[in-house]
Amino acid sequence: MEHTVVDRGLEGVVVGSTVLSNVEGLEGRLTYRGYDIHDLAQNASFEEVCYLLLFGQLPNTFQLEDLNVRLKANRMLPHALIKWMQTTPKDAWPMDVVRTIVSGLAEFVPHLEDGSHESNPRAAIHLIAKTPTIVAAWDRIRRDLEPIEPLPDLSTAANFLYMRTGETPTKIAEKALDVYLVLLADHSYNASTFAARVTASTRADIFACATSALAALEGDLHGGAPGKVMKMILDIGKPDRAEAYVHQLLARGERVMGMGHREYKVRDPRAQHLEKMAKELGASSDPKWYEIARSLEDAANKIFQAEKPGKRIYANVEFYTAPTLYSLGIPADEFTCMFACGRMAGWTAHILEQLGDNRLIRPQAAYTGPPVQAYVPIESRSSAKPNGATKKAEGAA
Ligand code: ACO
Repeated sequence: MEHTVVDRGLEGVVVGSTVLSNVEGLEGRLTYRGYDIHDLAQNASFEEVCYLLLFGQLPNTFQLEDLNVRLKANRMLPHALIKWMQTTPKDAWPMDVVRTIVSGLAEFVPHLEDGSHESNPRAAIHLIAKTPTIVAAWDRIRRDLEPIEPLPDLSTAANFLYMRTGETPTKIAEKALDVYLVLLADHSYNASTFAARVTASTRADIFACATSALAALEGDLHGGAPGKVMKMILDIGKPDRAEAYVHQLLARGERVMGMGHREYKVRDPRAQHLEKMAKELGASSDPKWYEIARSLEDAANKIFQAEKPGKRIYANVEFYTAPTLYSLGIPADEFTCMFACGRMAGWTAHILEQLGDNRLIRPQAAYTGPPVQAYVPIESRSSAKPNGATKKAEGAA
């Protein structure tokens, strides 16, 4: 073990290949199957990106229409799952509910003889179509409202907003959410996608893999960050308080959420589109959230430059996600669920890619425990009581 190199965070370690997306962190470039994210954000819909990821090319009109028909046909949730949500405590954490219901979808899909489900584009579309319906349904149920069924003629983005409020969204709101979903759709071997691929590598089915991905997404070093970015923005309250806030945060040893990235050593290329959306949405509602975010980013850049030179910590995708989604009326504790709505496209494409050329992912660990030792019978072990053990045991009895 003396010469074993341990890469705790797998930083820079290449563990597989993919044709789906490429992150070039030093240049700040992200491409999906060779298409630059800037082109896609400006021109493509989320549905086109889903087609690109799942089927390998941008769709023509007929292919896109076919996908839209399939998404629409799959949006409704099984009644039993709606009922389950209606009996769930209203203060349940939204990501806990979404992860559980996505897992539960498997129970309503016919399974194979061995208990697994077919992992194919049909199942992927099923998951991509239903995830926003789950998020919107829980959003209403937790507010004591009846869930609203999806409308067949609306896009994924417009339908989500409609299912939350019962009102057809404005064009600018639909566009903002659509761009968000496009930007979040894939990001190579990020933690949640890797979790999905590890699960797929055991030949688990697509529902099991999607559930793994959802579980890995939740933490604030990954998809759990934007809710905390919003908390910072709300705490700051006014743009001119941002600098003092960042100083206090860092003095407490905390991190500025939505900043820094394992791969990007420049500003995340997705941030500029989300910043634009946050600004535009702010102009037609309340500009405050965007303005505080902007001033927070400036303050953090200035302070990082002075206090952590060389660390290259810049805004990541989550930073302007917060004012964008908040301006759309989405509560901060549902932001990670929104991430899941977009990333389900990438997760499912990665799961199918993994299954198409599979090898069990099974790394090694450097053992740092005691050397080989003989088994000691229980009557020969030390009889000393660990602190508090008796109390606990008695309490339990
Ligand atoms: N605030 C303050 N300091 C930071 C931040 C930050 N946001 N990000 C990195 N640093 C500092 C660390 O304290 C560390 O400094 P040190 O060497 O003096 O101890 C140094 O930069 C390197 O940090 P690591 O955690 O080793 O870098 P890593 O590559 O693992 O960081 C991460 C990536 C986890 C995203 C980090 O930047 C972070 O915690 N950011 C805040 C949370 C966040 O925004 N998460 C969402 C990420 S995007 C996504 O997953 C979609």
